[in-house]
Amino acid sequence: MNQPLRRIAWITDPHFDHAKLDVWQSWTAKLLDLDPDAILITGDLSEGDDVAYQLRCLAETLNRPIHFVLGNHDFYGKSIASTRRDLIALCRDVPQLTYLTDHPAVTLNASTVLIGDDGWGDATEGDYAGSIVRLNDFQLIEDFRTSNPDSWQSLLNAEGRAAADRIAEKLRNLPDEITQVLIATHVPPFREACWYEGQTTDDNWAPFFVCGQLGRVLRTAAEQAPKRKHVVLCGHTHHDGVAQMTDNLVVHTGFSRYGSLEIESMLSIEEDIIELSRPTICFP
Ligand SMILES: [Fe+2]
Ligand SMILES: [Fe+2]
Repeated sequence: MNQPLRRIAWITDPHFDHAKLDVWQSWTAKLLDLDPDAILITGDLSEGDDVAYQLRCLAETLNRPIHFVLGNHDFYGKSIASTRRDLIALCRDVPQLTYLTDHPAVTLNASTVLIGDDGWGDATEGDYAGSIVRLNDFQLIEDFRTSNPDSWQSLLNAEGRAAADRIAEKLRNLPDEITQVLIATHVPPFREACWYEGQTTDDNWAPFFVCGQLGRVLRTAAEQAPKRKHVVLCGHTHHDGVAQMTDNLVVHTGFSRYGSLEIESMLSIEEDIIELSRPTICFP
């Protein structure tokens, strides 16, 4: 095993395309100052081709492992498949980068791994048919823009199912000695983790803000491995909160604000504990 990764800076929803250069510079300077062993980003880095550009800049500036999943905004202007293909190619080219959706478990220490998947608001929670919410995703992601709105619900279902299947396989492959698993994803997997101003989501928003099929996989995995801790990190709502689903399954949803760049939390990882603490800073 390589050196254990003890301190990880967790970032979510940075939306770099909304941040001014001086904000980006002071944020990266602070990250260098904190000197984590690795960076973890849970999606919505930017939009379209800018995602790859931003990842290259980060890899060059921070020069340490950067693990990431993608959020819905990262697919804007392109198709889901071409976005993923381009970022998989980028990761082959830039050794610091790991796209967790396309990657098996990353070993953090002898008993802890990191896995991840983009996830998707999969229209399995809440009231899709009655909802008045229509995200920009439907106009800006080619898969939706070029298909009949009648098929959107089944497209959302399919993306959620694919995410759930990929995570289920990664969890199934974990050896017994792994007693802690950190799961990075963009969309909250449970309604209880879908925070907005201190409340959880309603039926109107839930179809687009919860990846219900992933939630079901996580619940089953936690039941089947009662001695293993499952710690989920997600974003997408931009409002933070913690949902303790069961004794061994907890979901942290991270904070974000357009135009500012945050370090959501520092993770401190030992062989029997994963702790989160929030640095008391934000930019600007
Ligand atoms: Fe976001
Ligand atoms: Fe998002």
